[in-house]
Amino acid sequence: MAVQTFSSLPVAQRVHGFTYAIRNIVAEARKVEAAGRPVRYLNIGDPSPFGFKTPAHLIEAVERAMRDQHNGYTPSPGILAAREAVADDFTARGVPTIPDRVLLTSGTSEGIELTLGAIVDEGNEVLVPTPTYPLYTAVLAKLGAKAVYYRTDPARGWQPDVDHLRSLLTPSTRAMVIIDPNNPTGAVYPSETRLQLIDLAERHGIVLLADEVYGDLAYDGSVPALASLNPDAPVISYSSLSKAYLAPGWRAGWLAVGRTPRLDAVLAAMKKLADGRLCSPGPMQYAITAALRGDRSHLISLRQELRARAELTTARFNAMDGMRCVAPKGAFYAMPQVTLPPGRTDEDFVLALLRETGVLCVYGSGFGTDPAGGFFRVVFLASLEELSEIYDAIAGFTRGWLAH
Ligand SMILES: Cc1ncc(COP(=O)(O)O)c(C=O)c1O
Repeated sequence: MAVQTFSSLPVAQRVHGFTYAIRNIVAEARKVEAAGRPVRYLNIGDPSPFGFKTPAHLIEAVERAMRDQHNGYTPSPGILAAREAVADDFTARGVPTIPDRVLLTSGTSEGIELTLGAIVDEGNEVLVPTPTYPLYTAVLAKLGAKAVYYRTDPARGWQPDVDHLRSLLTPSTRAMVIIDPNNPTGAVYPSETRLQLIDLAERHGIVLLADEVYGDLAYDGSVPALASLNPDAPVISYSSLSKAYLAPGWRAGWLAVGRTPRLDAVLAAMKKLADGRLCSPGPMQYAITAALRGDRSHLISLRQELRARAELTTARFNAMDGMRCVAPKGAFYAMPQVTLPPGRTDEDFVLALLRETGVLCVYGSGFGTDPAGGFFRVVFLASLEELSEIYDAIAGFTRGWLAH
């Protein structure tokens, strides 16, 4: 018998550029748990483990779809009834939309991936905010395209720096990503800023990717859809049941392509790519109709609960020595900043905090901020009591860490 020698089979180069700190850091947390310290996971933006419940009428819609044997593949853009519900919802929000320009996707994530796959070639550039939700940079790395970071400014409530963004536009720029309300900062952008961003995209002939997955979770009420400010602008809008409808595991999302004929070829390209993945999860598509046509009253209490957590979070971090935090206006994230001792990084702080207290946050550089900036992201979905305990632990740890 031939003797087998072990040598690792090759992995594609592109994987080296694919990083996703939010999940990568869990490997460290597992080691801490294995050493006997329980970990409080404040790294992933999933409301389910914190007791937030999916609305019952959504669950019933999925259950009914399964019992009615809607368990086969759907058309690749998704079932018509749900695409109609998405189109009507956008139209009601001031973005006249037809079902033919809607695709149902496996979460916002797949929508983003389909679009970037359809519009960027190797070497093309896409403007991405810093800090950013890291899927954008990860997908661009996979495609061999370049994420070009535009600044958002903590001194101005994490608003985009429009002049900086303008200075980054080149003939290779294909798209601009706008995440509003924002993960990881919790910022909500004013209309003037949004209009300036639309204007830049119009002038330079680039696509605007409007990530609106937190659009209904701004504490003062739903944020208008970006495309409603100019329905003829080249905007593609994304959302899902993951956040506002509390069902992230269902992978039920959608995108709507703006009505401008300039996006017709992009829409056709996305449909072509979508054919290759057959469809998004079928029974969950029925819940999209239920969500967008049914009772949305859960949003009122959800926003109140998030606002209370945001206020506690901001107050507690700003009361800690060496720490400051911009007040979030939507979603369930805050991005505090710790004053780092010379030579230390945000990752050093987050790992030391994890090892000493079992509290798991994500370092800001995982979202594209400078490692020396001292930013880190907190997911504040735990109860107020639990958050209070967690913030006691962070305050105690930070005092000691800064004293060394
Ligand atoms: C800004 C942003 N976009 C997209 C996603 C992905 O959401 P989905 O579950 O709809 O794929 C997330 C998830 O945290 C997010 O924060």
